Amino acid sequence: MVKIEIKDARSFIDNEVYAQYEKKALAAFDTLVAGDGAGNDFLGWKHLPTETPESLIAACEAVRDDWAAKGVDLVVAIGIGGSYLGAKCAIEALSHNFSRQLRRPGAPEVVFAGNNLSEEYLAELMDLLSERRAACVVISKSGTTTEPAVAFRVVKQYLEETYGKAGAAERIVAITDAHKGALKTLSMQEGYRTFVVPDDVGGRFSVLTPVGLVPIVLAGFDIREILAGAAEEEKALSVPSPENPAVRYAAVRNALYGALGKKVEILVNYNPKLQYFAEWWKQLYGESEGKDGKGIFPASVNNTADLHSMGQFIQEGDRVMFETVLGVEKSTREVVIGSDPDNLDCLNYLAGKRVEHCNAMAALGTRIAHLDGGVPQISVSVEKLDARSLGGLFYFFEFACGISAYTLGVNPFNQPGVEAYKKNMFALLEKPGYEEASAAIRKRI
Ligand code: PA5
Repeated sequence: MVKIEIKDARSFIDNEVYAQYEKKALAAFDTLVAGDGAGNDFLGWKHLPTETPESLIAACEAVRDDWAAKGVDLVVAIGIGGSYLGAKCAIEALSHNFSRQLRRPGAPEVVFAGNNLSEEYLAELMDLLSERRAACVVISKSGTTTEPAVAFRVVKQYLEETYGKAGAAERIVAITDAHKGALKTLSMQEGYRTFVVPDDVGGRFSVLTPVGLVPIVLAGFDIREILAGAAEEEKALSVPSPENPAVRYAAVRNALYGALGKKVEILVNYNPKLQYFAEWWKQLYGESEGKDGKGIFPASVNNTADLHSMGQFIQEGDRVMFETVLGVEKSTREVVIGSDPDNLDCLNYLAGKRVEHCNAMAALGTRIAHLDGGVPQISVSVEKLDARSLGGLFYFFEFACGISAYTLGVNPFNQPGVEAYKKNMFALLEKPGYEEASAAIRKRI
């Protein structure tokens, strides 16, 4: 279960002020649960953990088994934003740190594409494909996003040249809208196996739909455990109480922002496997809250590495930030520091201690230092980093995000600002239909 500790943030906030934000967060909780707030046609994610049918889970697992039988050893997962970050985050969190180098037999390697427009990236992906037995999962809810569409065109051509059209079709799975979009049309025409992104689930809330579940299961991880962990959290967070962890997170971060002007929240981890969790979280909170001239800017650090780079700013720079430390209580592996007769590195004082103990002391020392430096601290933690806890964390942050955005007074489920760059890019690429915009933008450059 996900635990939250807010005392080192509450100590910065006046009691009466906190009570006001707590009240707002409780009202926001009611709005989210009742489903009568802004963007309420995008609440399909709320009951995914408890309502995902067995048939859908089995269909995801069937792709895994089918491709294993074909000897697939590389899966290219194509998607961007919400159609990429959840799966990437889960696979990074659950994989062995050195799985790539160890190359132990097992599930195929899952690599990602369509999340950038780097020509080098795609060319080098082709180098990799040419050495492996590849398959592809293409994910786009709209079915029209440029980055994944470009990558898919390139990968599809490669698969067709290598395996023939029919062979390629057996090695492509499309995850898209049930009815519309270019990817849906293409999938029907080419006979691809498809999964649906539900209409009422936005990209950044879609990790527990096939958008996340298919790449995660293909990478060899237990999606049933992820859903079970999320279901535990769905139940735990359904209680309308100031003690509800999601309400507390929403209340305290809004109080820090609204009353103390803390405009930056840094998600801190002490485990490299969580680096992409922060990327997923940044999209979730950044796109959900950053609008109407409001919002907490979500940032992240990977400690202890970043204590040697960002640590200075966090300790003594402009006091605009608070930290949310994403903690994992128990390491699943053990490394004990040995004794050295010469002790030239002067580390014998640590002999017999686990590295995890050093990590915990680094985290504790940092928390106290940053508190002394005026940086409020929130702690969100799980017992260990496994599929069940990860599912819990996904649901916790999604549910808390809905409450937090309503507390802030914005629609958590739209992202109008994302369109601005697309319009300019299409004008500059001279996409049909953008002639006027194209002429206008060319005058500006
Ligand atoms: O959260 C979102 O809605 C976005 O990040 C989308 O997921 C992203 O733009 C990709 O969109 P699509 O899945 O339609 O290609």
